[in-house]
Amino acid sequence: EKGGYDYFMLKEIAEQPKAVADTLLGRIGAEGQLTLDELRIPAQVLRMVDKVVIVACGTAFHAGLIAKYAIEHWTRIPCEVELASEFRYRDPILDARSLVIAISQSGETMDTLMALRHAREQGATVLAICNTNGSTIPRESDAVLYTHAGPEVAVASTKAFLTQLVACYLVALYLGQVRGTKWGDEIAAVVRELGRIGEEVERVLETMEPVRELARSLAGQDTVLFLGRHVGYPVALEGALKLKELAYMHAEGFAAGELKHGPIALIEDGVPVVVVVPSPRGRSVLHDKIVSNIQEIRARGARTIVIAEEGDEAVVPYADHLVRVPATPTLLQPLVATVPLQVFACELATARGNEVDQPRNLAKSVTVE
Ligand code: F6R
Repeated sequence: EKGGYDYFMLKEIAEQPKAVADTLLGRIGAEGQLTLDELRIPAQVLRMVDKVVIVACGTAFHAGLIAKYAIEHWTRIPCEVELASEFRYRDPILDARSLVIAISQSGETMDTLMALRHAREQGATVLAICNTNGSTIPRESDAVLYTHAGPEVAVASTKAFLTQLVACYLVALYLGQVRGTKWGDEIAAVVRELGRIGEEVERVLETMEPVRELARSLAGQDTVLFLGRHVGYPVALEGALKLKELAYMHAEGFAAGELKHGPIALIEDGVPVVVVVPSPRGRSVLHDKIVSNIQEIRARGARTIVIAEEGDEAVVPYADHLVRVPATPTLLQPLVATVPLQVFACELATARGNEVDQPRNLAKSVTVE
């Protein structure tokens, strides 16, 4: 059943190139146009949307945080992302022009379900991004985009996360297309890159042995910190969540720009800090700022584990460990940058003797509050 792997999690990490290809299957036309007619939300409704609200829990919430960058950048529609467990008890401002996106692998998460009911009561259109056919969340939504990642058995979400991201990018691009956002070179490049992303993820997977070795060497640590900015910030949160749930270690993700507002006080000799570095192309200001952050924490004793794109030489002098990922358009970087963090957490958990597929106290689908 595990297809020769020791754990379902390892199998599901390895399945990611195919999973992301399956999410894209039949949804991008020959000219790069999105064909999401399956959504069955009339174009005039999508043209009216003046606000997008994403609700989700855990890893799916992190996918939503990344989606916000893509949706606002490509569609210019304001987008909020909220934990379903908070949203459902709030008095959110929604109406018929609001599009609420509920992201859930299982389609059964109680808080996400209650959040979508709460949204529908106020007249919002609800779109589910879900991996489980016929589950409750898509059944109760106005529309659904299935991720088609195949069953995810390990409690820790891996391929579901990558495919949720792909589905979010598709929704963002489709919204832009329907609303007549100008189909510029940037969008064409993104669509082309999405078509190749399975191969890029495969290339990352082929280079993971040093990451596994590094993970084993850190089995005795108490704390690992994660830093990122822009779309790398939710990637840092996701890396920390994986480590908490699998390795039972103290792990925290920070926006690198917040370092001086508190977290830098945590840096002491030998603390491992994973830094997700944005591309030096495009938003290069952020790249340069994070390189300074790496220097600052290293000067205070941090052991820096740097995830940076191929060809980024500026990080080399400050990286105690350097993990390379393929160059992608900025907004898509999470699809490749998250993979080493999954492998890292899985290997650390194994080294600490933990049960990888069934971490203590956790359930695959959280159908209670
Ligand atoms: C983390 C993890 C959880 C789920 C969360 C939402 O690895 O698996 O944080 O992401 O419980 O679950 P779904 O997506 O089924 O709603």
